[in-house]
Amino acid sequence: MNRIIKSFFTLCLISILCAGMLTGCTRTPRADTDTLRIGVAVYQQSDTFISTLMQALEHLAQERESSEEIKINLNVVDGHGSQLTQSEQIDRLIALDYDVLCVNIVDRTSAAMLIDKAKEANIPIIFFNREPVQEDIQRWDSVYYVGAKAEESGILQGQILLNAWLNENERVDRNQDGVLQYVMLEGEPGHQDAMLRTEYAVKTLVEAGVSVEKLDSNTANWDRSQAASRMAQWMDRIGDSIEVVISNNDDMALGAIDVFQNMNIPKEKMPVVVGVDATALALEAVCDGTMQGTVRNDAKGIAKCMLDLAISLNRGQEAPELEKYQDGQYIWLPYQKVTKEQLPCEEARAPAQP
Ligand code: BGC
Ligand code: CA
Repeated sequence: MNRIIKSFFTLCLISILCAGMLTGCTRTPRADTDTLRIGVAVYQQSDTFISTLMQALEHLAQERESSEEIKINLNVVDGHGSQLTQSEQIDRLIALDYDVLCVNIVDRTSAAMLIDKAKEANIPIIFFNREPVQEDIQRWDSVYYVGAKAEESGILQGQILLNAWLNENERVDRNQDGVLQYVMLEGEPGHQDAMLRTEYAVKTLVEAGVSVEKLDSNTANWDRSQAASRMAQWMDRIGDSIEVVISNNDDMALGAIDVFQNMNIPKEKMPVVVGVDATALALEAVCDGTMQGTVRNDAKGIAKCMLDLAISLNRGQEAPELEKYQDGQYIWLPYQKVTKEQLPCEEARAPAQP
């Protein structure tokens, strides 16, 4: 009995000592800064924008490996839209002592918990594309956010529509009542880009003096086929009145266009459609004239800043490349308007010279 109590106390003492060592420790600089292990957790790998961003990150990492004396090990894990799955994946990345974590968080309101775990393990954490609230970012100074300002994309989308309204008014204001009748395809509820794009696209039109009328709006969770089924329902119910489709991203805009094409609506008679992202397929639709325009969401720029930041955090040095985008713990990439005029559509179609 005595022996059991004794060994129990010894065990307790060991655990207390270990806990003390863990909480009191600071992360010693990496002995080997020539090897960088980055754990990347994405909310959903099948998302078009996220998969483009990941391809860019992998490509840039390979480029850096061949141009510099550095070995970059990227481990990308897919949360499949579940915060529970993602949190477990991040626990594993922390247990494996990755040098830096890059997190595209499933549920923006769960950031605090992840930050506290990363802080305890002293592993810097870079959030991207899905923005935690500022209070959470400020929990620790080795937390960063790399992304683009959501309201900016809404403003640019509004400007594309304003331009069409002013310069091609007969085509846009089909019933010529001086009011822009629109439907809104929204991204995932709660996502900063869905909320702010919706708000600022409309605000930009209204502030420029355009009268607008919302016929309907609904979420299609960033998804092309969900958007197509929303659009099909609207076409049945209010199809003749829809003049403009404002979509929070390109995939949903393409879903709306799928419906118009299935209904054999000629291009000139389709409602005016705008999206955000500038995906490859959206650029084709802009060249075709089925899409009025889009806003470039700079996947490559975001990936490059994440990599620059991860390398600099690992080396414990500043990254001069980031200076022009950085505002404390935030790194902001600019959005850019894309309409037919900005694209080399004709060149792309011209027959190759012999
Ligand atoms: C993009 C969407 C994407 C979403 C994922 C947004 O910034 O515009 O296309 O689905 O991020 O979080
Ligand atoms: Ca009208």
